[in-house]
This record gives sequence, C-alpha cells and structure tokens, in this order.
Amino acid sequence: MRTLIAGNWKMNPPGLAGAEALARALRLSAARAVDLLVCPPFTALASVAALLRGTGIALGAQDCAATGEAGGAHTGEISAAMLRDLGVSHVILGHSERRAHQAESDATVRAKAVAAAAAGLIPLVCVGETEAERRAGRAQAVVAGQLAGSLPDGFSGIIAYEPVWAIGTGLTPSAGEIAAMHAAIAADLATRFPARAAALPVLYGGSVKPGNAAEVLALAHVGGALVGGASLVAEDFLAIAAAAR
Ligand code: 13P
Repeated sequence: MRTLIAGNWKMNPPGLAGAEALARALRLSAARAVDLLVCPPFTALASVAALLRGTGIALGAQDCAATGEAGGAHTGEISAAMLRDLGVSHVILGHSERRAHQAESDATVRAKAVAAAAAGLIPLVCVGETEAERRAGRAQAVVAGQLAGSLPDGFSGIIAYEPVWAIGTGLTPSAGEIAAMHAAIAADLATRFPARAAALPVLYGGSVKPGNAAEVLALAHVGGALVGGASLVAEDFLAIAAAAR
C-alpha cells in the first residue's frame, strides 16, 4: 500500500483565490513516491478540481449528506453523488470537529459512509479520543467504540486516528502511543474485516508537521497522515510528503 498524505483544509483558505493559489502551488510539485489527497471546502472543489486535473493529486470533500438519495428535499445538504460529479474521489467523515460542533454521532457517520460508498466515493472516517478520555486510560476503548459504531459492515475505505487533543495544538502523542493505538486499530480491523483489513489504510492526524512527519510515518501500521494546518502551506505539505519513506 502506498503512503497517503491527505490535507484537510477545513474552512480555509478564507477566499477562493487562496484555495486556487494553494492548488497551483501543489500542481508544481515533482513526481512523488506517495499518494496525495487534498480536501478543500465545498465552495472551492470545482476550481481545485480543474486546477489539479491530470496531476495525480486526488480530491476529497470534508463531509457529505447521510441520505443515499442523489437529490431530494434536503436543504443545505450536498449528496455524495453531487461530489462525485465534481471529480471528488474521497470524503472525510466524522471529523472530531463535526462530532463536537455538529453533534455527529457514530450512527450518522456510518450512514454517511454507506451513502459515500454507494456513490462510488472512498470514505475517510475519523476517530480519536479527547484529552480527558486519554487521561482516564480510556483512549483505546473510545476509539474501538467509534470504529464499531462508525464503520458499516463491508467497509472499504480509509481510517484516520486523530486524537482530539493533538488537533491544532502542536501537541502529539509519543511515538509509542501512536504505535500502540495503530496496532490496536489494526487488530480491531483484522477481527471485523478479516478479508480486507490489510487493504484499509490507517492515517495518523494531529499536529503533523514537516519536523515530525518522518518519525510518525515510519511507525508500523501508520499508512499516512491527515494534515490540517500544515496542509495550508504547499511547501510544508510537500515536505511532509517527502518525509515518507
Ligand atoms: P492539525 O494538523 O492542524 O493539527 O489538524 C489535524 C486535523 O484535524 C486534520 O483533519
């Protein structure tokens, strides 16, 4: 499996011009030994799709509707089929910011994963514990619960382990803590999806930067990175990609 370096632009850059400039800067990058994926906000998807066409850089969205309908009376929602039409191949689901701020439950994330797969998109499902949960020694149990609840039967896609307390804080778990969680997730996936667990990449996310990427990406069971802040600076995002061996 090739390493995947994914950029979650979140609600950034603030203007379309910024998103286009970032896509242009990525377009200039040389051939890579890793796969790259960028996930701009909905409003920038069409422009970024046009700019990245032919580069081999994949395009993802940051959410999709839970309904399997391609269209319908769902004000404000965007279906997975609509995203597919725009050239989107991946969709981030259940990011901790959506779980916290939009009150997304595991059941909602699972329904979205089903809808995404039905439309031919690759779901990228996020899991991760809060600081209080880790302090209480419950990190692995919380993540196991999120995996059980968020991944539909027959899941085919990508998982991202993103400890909530490491997101945007500059804090990261130790290499040993990341390795232990990824080993636990791999074991969990092997039990639930014996035939395809080896083909389900598990990314690490949370304050991945050019300076720590090599160490994180070298860990067993880490299939790549989901990058927030550093994905908004083309040079940093490409440096993270270059750090993968
Ligand atoms: P940071 O890389 O900014 O910590 O964000 C991680 C993240 O939430 C990616 O989805």
